[in-house]
Amino acid sequence: MPRTDSGNNENFLSALRTSFIGRRIYLYQTLESTQTIALSLAEREKDNLHGTVIVSEYQTKGRGRMGRRWISPRGGIWLSIILQPKIKSSQITVLPLLSALSVCDVIKKMTKLNAKLKWPNDVVIDGRKVSGILLDVSTEADKIDFVVIGIGVNVNIDIKKIDSDIAKSAGFYDITSLQNELHGKEIEKFDFIRLLLENIESYVFQLENEGAGEIIKKYKKISDTLGKEVIVKQSNEILQGVAVDMDENDGFLLIETPYGCIHKVVSGDVISKNRKEK
Ligand code: BTN
Repeated sequence: MPRTDSGNNENFLSALRTSFIGRRIYLYQTLESTQTIALSLAEREKDNLHGTVIVSEYQTKGRGRMGRRWISPRGGIWLSIILQPKIKSSQITVLPLLSALSVCDVIKKMTKLNAKLKWPNDVVIDGRKVSGILLDVSTEADKIDFVVIGIGVNVNIDIKKIDSDIAKSAGFYDITSLQNELHGKEIEKFDFIRLLLENIESYVFQLENEGAGEIIKKYKKISDTLGKEVIVKQSNEILQGVAVDMDENDGFLLIETPYGCIHKVVSGDVISKNRKEK
């Protein structure tokens, strides 16, 4: 596997203002999946894992949520971050939410596009998915061994060139890229990665020190799901109702059914009711 060590990317590293995320970073040209490599690294090595980042130019077997494929051509950002955060295991669910929030923050900062969050952790622009997050967790009893956050962002990719059947594997609705939204303009990927890692680190500190409250508040402000009628597909259940709120401790989605009951949704695919499944 051709690997470029972080030492060859001094500009990127010297500009990175983090204390732990990305201090150990591996940059590859191609990999099956940054998530798979990060998981095997975390299982093999027990020390110095916190903040390790694996980035690949493209992935041949990118993994999406719910066992789906994640199509990862050159031009996108495909990375995984290994963390050993000092949080309760009940707060693990906040990590993908804060990662999606960070992606949204950086998109807004670098492009001024109106990126929003589709619960749980998709970033959308005008309802089209531009980024997805995958979380793998290793716990022992109630102790977090490590988590791996996988982040995919369609940055400098022409979505029209991606085969439409494969594009469907991204989820239940249309996909887009920053390049498509910016009418062909490309953005500097390493600036995006640097800002993203800095942003995630500051949210992780906030979660460790103050809990999830402020992060969830920020997330709710740019939610594309709250207030909408939704259908939630869980493994063996379909729930229908209005997405009324999110739990301030763990970020679970609260759905009010037509009978007035509030259901707490832990995970699943959320589809807006007026949107056709693809
Ligand atoms: C989703 O289905 O929305 C989650 C997609 C996550 C994709 C990223 S790309 C980097 C990392 N490596 C993978 O194989 N998947 C995640």
